[in-house]
Amino acid sequence: MSDQHAVVTGGAGFLGSHLVDSLLNDGYQVTVLDNFGSGRPENLEHVDAERFETINHDVSEPFPSLNNVGVVYHFASRASPKDFDSHAVEIALANGMGTHNALQFASEHEARVVLASTSEVYGDPEEHPQHEEYRGNVNVRGPRAPYDESKRFAEALAVAYEAQHSLDIRTVRIFNTYGPRMRQDDGRVIPNFLTQALEGKDLTVYGDGSQTRSFCYVSDLIAGIRAFADAPSEVAKGEVVNVGNTDEVTIFELAELILEIVDTDSDITYEPLPEDDPKIRRPDISKATGMLDWEPTIGLEKGLKRTIEAFDD
Ligand SMILES: NC(=O)c1ccc[n+]([C@@H]2O[C@H](COP(=O)([O-])OP(=O)(O)OC[C@H]3O[C@@H](n4cnc5c(N)ncnc54)[C@H](O)[C@@H]3O)[C@@H](O)[C@H]2O)c1
Repeated sequence: MSDQHAVVTGGAGFLGSHLVDSLLNDGYQVTVLDNFGSGRPENLEHVDAERFETINHDVSEPFPSLNNVGVVYHFASRASPKDFDSHAVEIALANGMGTHNALQFASEHEARVVLASTSEVYGDPEEHPQHEEYRGNVNVRGPRAPYDESKRFAEALAVAYEAQHSLDIRTVRIFNTYGPRMRQDDGRVIPNFLTQALEGKDLTVYGDGSQTRSFCYVSDLIAGIRAFADAPSEVAKGEVVNVGNTDEVTIFELAELILEIVDTDSDITYEPLPEDDPKIRRPDISKATGMLDWEPTIGLEKGLKRTIEAFDD
């Protein structure tokens, strides 16, 4: 249990709201900063704690003044490829100015920082699985650049604040995660397929479905992030770790599994693969498992069933 004060940017979103639950459960006072762009008040409406408040705030603006903050989880950024065109500037600024503001605020409080980075920093990878040492294959001019490159810049800002201000920053490269509280119209593949299957519509596969992903259930991801955040400074300060699940499936296999679980008459239809869509993706999580004594425990079928229950409510 902790009586510390944690700030969670993006706390009304999918991952942020699960993080809030985990922190409140451990006794933290929690303040969420969110502009509700892709986040939803209902993700937090179950929270009934005096130790909790939400402030409607855009992280690309300087943070409001708050008391005695011990840790900042910077998670604010739209993450759906659906938003990569329509909200490109907002995304780049949330990860650019937003990260600068989060790190500046943390410096003033001498607070620890947990920075949400992404497997997208590896781009369309030429090394497999992706280890933290891999430098990536990202198209700086491509349609995913505002997201991918702003996350890479956020990591570079972390290096800058570590060097210049000795801030305790832990960077987590999150691989595809799914679970309850994802928006059904979010545009990411699991909510897409589940919504289509539950409505009896055909599942849209982009490309021939041979591209791979490794999907992590949200409770496993949050456990990994919290273990990293709470690890002693001697172990975790200034480190970057991959957190995700290593079970790799093709998108076609994912579609088939969902059709089987939902038991629908839906079929599969094919559309062209978007530009720069990664063809393979699987995290090397040996660093996290070694450092944190953590590993994912929830398999894809079990996690999908839990997600379907939540979507069906
Ligand atoms: N879910 C995944 O698989 C995944 C994978 C890799 C990285 N991530 C990272 O994790 C974080 C959370 O992602 P998510 O899946 O929960 O997405 P989400 O869209 O559900 O949550 C993002 C939250 O940030 C808020 N937000 C966005 N821009 C903001 C701004 N300028 N100011 C204040 N709030 C803002 C949104 O309103 C929302 O509540 C993001 O940084 C994302 O890049 C997620």
